[in-house]
Amino acid sequence: MTEMTAHAIHRPVQKMRIVNKFATFAAGLLVSFAALTTSASAAEGGHLMQSGTDLGDRASLQRGAQLFMNYCSGCHSLKYLRYSRMAEDLGLTEEEVMNNLNFTGAKFGEQIQVSLTPDHANQWFGKMPPDLSLISRVRGSDWIYTYLKSFYLDESRPLGWNNKLFPNASMPNPLWELQGLQHAEFGEADKATGERPVLGLKVTQPGHQGAEEFNQSVRDITAFLEYAGEPAALKRQSMGVWVILFLAMFTLLAYLLKHEYWRDVDKH
Ligand code: HEC
Repeated sequence: MTEMTAHAIHRPVQKMRIVNKFATFAAGLLVSFAALTTSASAAEGGHLMQSGTDLGDRASLQRGAQLFMNYCSGCHSLKYLRYSRMAEDLGLTEEEVMNNLNFTGAKFGEQIQVSLTPDHANQWFGKMPPDLSLISRVRGSDWIYTYLKSFYLDESRPLGWNNKLFPNASMPNPLWELQGLQHAEFGEADKATGERPVLGLKVTQPGHQGAEEFNQSVRDITAFLEYAGEPAALKRQSMGVWVILFLAMFTLLAYLLKHEYWRDVDKH
């Protein structure tokens, strides 16, 4: 058998292998894409409330930014996020950001830092409040949402606040004016430790917002922190549609190609 004929015989087989490889590759892409979109929601604890955030809801992100700057940025930085980047991603003008969302006198191109000094923080809270740039990735959105809704009055704590999700947290409830004052309902004291478990929480004195409105405010803040944890996610979400379209077209193409090659093979 000469080299020429051997080549001719092997050609359809080679083509088939290539088509197979392409099909495997496309399938692999699909699987990893599906894994990517679901992994974010995998790390949830059983007792967490659902945050219901929607990164596609720009108004929610804008409200979240406003709430964060008003109620959180006094203690927490977002040191990986620049004011300019936030403006671009959330559809805000430089003027809007500098007038309404920048309270530290930072320049437009600078990161969101905090003016609280570690000395003061140690004195007041016993520690420096952590930077929140990556908190949504560490804790997850449902955790943040639940945490912000779980503060209750507790006279035994230094600042008068405790948290059902994060017991003895040193952070005072930043949103009490909106939520109102929440009290805990305790269960039977544990015989060994004498501690009474927190069974439920109840707003006993209403705040500026009703329950639904407050939930939405917390959802907005959570969405904003989710965005801050991965600013590229906004772009990726809008790109996702194109990726799906591309994959669909690619699958069709691969199918037609396979069809074409098999026609050759059947003739032999
Ligand atoms: C008065 C200062 C102060 C304000 C205002 C404040 N925090 Fe905190 N925050 C703290 C401190 C202190 C801690 C550390 C708590 C601990 O570890 O005991 C903390 C912890 C946290 C954590 C948990 C971090 C971890 O350890 O996983 C989150 C999430 C958080 N804050 C979010 C917020 C959000 C959102 C706001 C605004 C709605 C806010 N904080 C407002 C002081 C503050």
